[in-house]
Amino acid sequence: MAKKLTNRVTWVGKVDWELKNFHGREYSTQKGSSYNSYLIRDKKTVLIDTVWQPFDKEFVSRLKQEIDLKEIDFIIANHGEIDHSGALPELLREIPDTPIYCTAKGAQILQGHYHQDWNFVTVKTGDKLELGNCSLVFIEAPMLHWPDSMFTYMTGENILFSNDAFGQHYATESLYNDKVDYSELYAETLKYYANILTPFSSLVIRKIEEVLKFNLPIDMICPSHGVIWKENPVSIVEQYLKWADAYQENQITIIYDTMWNATRRMAEAIAAGIRQADKSVTVKLYNSSKEDKNDIITEIFRSKAVLWGSPTVNNGYLHSIGGLLEMIKGLKFKKKIGAAFGSYGWSGEAVKQLTEELAGCGFQVADDGHRTLWVPDEKGLADCREYGKEFLAFTRQ
Ligand code: FEO
Repeated sequence: MAKKLTNRVTWVGKVDWELKNFHGREYSTQKGSSYNSYLIRDKKTVLIDTVWQPFDKEFVSRLKQEIDLKEIDFIIANHGEIDHSGALPELLREIPDTPIYCTAKGAQILQGHYHQDWNFVTVKTGDKLELGNCSLVFIEAPMLHWPDSMFTYMTGENILFSNDAFGQHYATESLYNDKVDYSELYAETLKYYANILTPFSSLVIRKIEEVLKFNLPIDMICPSHGVIWKENPVSIVEQYLKWADAYQENQITIIYDTMWNATRRMAEAIAAGIRQADKSVTVKLYNSSKEDKNDIITEIFRSKAVLWGSPTVNNGYLHSIGGLLEMIKGLKFKKKIGAAFGSYGWSGEAVKQLTEELAGCGFQVADDGHRTLWVPDEKGLADCREYGKEFLAFTRQ
């Protein structure tokens, strides 16, 4: 159902309560998501973004209840990824000549996805589209998070349509940030940043500084997923600046996989050693074969240091740890300390391999790691506690 934001702007998106995975299965969405599309009615009428393809017919049919499609003068495609452009083919079957405003990269991406000779109008930062009483100003935001991404700012209403930036995979019927559970919203916004935007943090800082220089008044930030930032919208901008600056809390996370619980017992003893030495540090343990991978990545994002544990199996480490390391490599975390540990029976290469992988993933490696032969006995557990204390000491250097 359409929802009016102001006299001129109406939300016409889709809330997807059922979505449990996004980007294939690369991102878990336990709280669902939404695909936000916005209709602007001034002297000219504009549609900003659409919805994911499975909802294309529903989207167009609901849009028709709101407006005669022929009244739409312009479409803005802030980003070509199919969760926002997926309903364009269905829509443009009805209004094929409507100009689509996007970046030059956006036009290439939309053509690459849909292979249609649509009426693209390419724009650059600072270009304006007059609507009558208000105007739209375009701000390119390359790599936030695709090369084509852009923001659209609406004068008069002082709204920044930021597309993926400032979004969350968070289904809600409440629409605004001050109308939802704050801790849920914070968790989903953080998870979104940690899992999607981390590699682009330096660009996030630069783009925000660039937008702030324009001194644009901002009454609302309308992203393409999740809630609209209406109550104190600048707070999410300030939060992004903190997250983008090699964010960390006083937290050490221990991630492990285990076959017969020897490596788990090592993990718990290492955690106990850290806590014995410093009660102020938050220590969290996750079994990577049982815990949601994106939640673990969010915890890594919050950590100053991460310990990785795996037994040696078939001359290597367990696949759940390997999968996480592959994700971590691409996310390019900054200023994190790491080390490895694990039990072994004979060849015992996993700790050395993990240590090398951590260096390749950009971690500052604390040491050569810690191994225990077979199952740790009382002395083995005491050694692990001691190792935890030594690792903690390294994080303080
Ligand atoms: Fe980059 Fe929400 O798509």
